[in-house]
Amino acid sequence: MKVLALIGSARREGNTATIVNKIIEGIKEKNKEAKINSYFLHELNINPCQSCYSCIKTGRCAQKDDMQKIYKFLEKGDVLILGSPIYMDYVSAQTKLFIDRLFPYIHEKSPEINKDLKTILVVTWGWDKKDAYDRVIKNIKKVLKWHKINVYKVIKGYGYQYEKTEVLEDKKLLNNAYRIGFNI
Ligand SMILES: Cc1cc2nc3c(=O)[nH]c(=O)nc-3n(C[C@H](O)[C@H](O)[C@H](O)COP(=O)(O)O)c2cc1C
Repeated sequence: MKVLALIGSARREGNTATIVNKIIEGIKEKNKEAKINSYFLHELNINPCQSCYSCIKTGRCAQKDDMQKIYKFLEKGDVLILGSPIYMDYVSAQTKLFIDRLFPYIHEKSPEINKDLKTILVVTWGWDKKDAYDRVIKNIKKVLKWHKINVYKVIKGYGYQYEKTEVLEDKKLLNNAYRIGFNI
């Protein structure tokens, strides 16, 4: 099983990373052989889309940066975990960059994303309201679907203000994250 985790927060031990790591823990427990790569998106070399539209002609993105590795994974991989905090009412900038760079998959000539790819979306925010960002989640799911990426599970971590450790008190949520990983 090939797994790729992309974390759209710069906080190594932050809320998003902690939840993503719990999912990974669950996957590892059940699938000892799983090949797991986990990255903080800001540490990858991912440029913004240049709107050159060469993907319309070739089906491929012309930019030779770390997205090329990610494209390969999306076409062959089994589990994608995408985690983002809410920044200013939307996903973080680094997460948005990644989403924009999925543009080549919209076109007819583009290669197919693995139709069996299971995607887990993790979204965390400060406002202590469970449905506060359902519209953002709905939007991200919709946009991922344009690229034939179906979201299999969503984990919402909310009411996390500033401390990196707030998520650790959310035992039920962390257990759920572990179980989702274990059962995948
Ligand atoms: C720049 C910035 C903008 C934020 N904007 C929002 C927001 O619009 N709504 C909200 O509920 N929380 C907001 N937050 C809080 C974070 O979404 C929340 O603390 C999140 O869990 C942080 O995740 P992390 O620990 O993985 O970085 C913001 C935090 C930062 C740093």
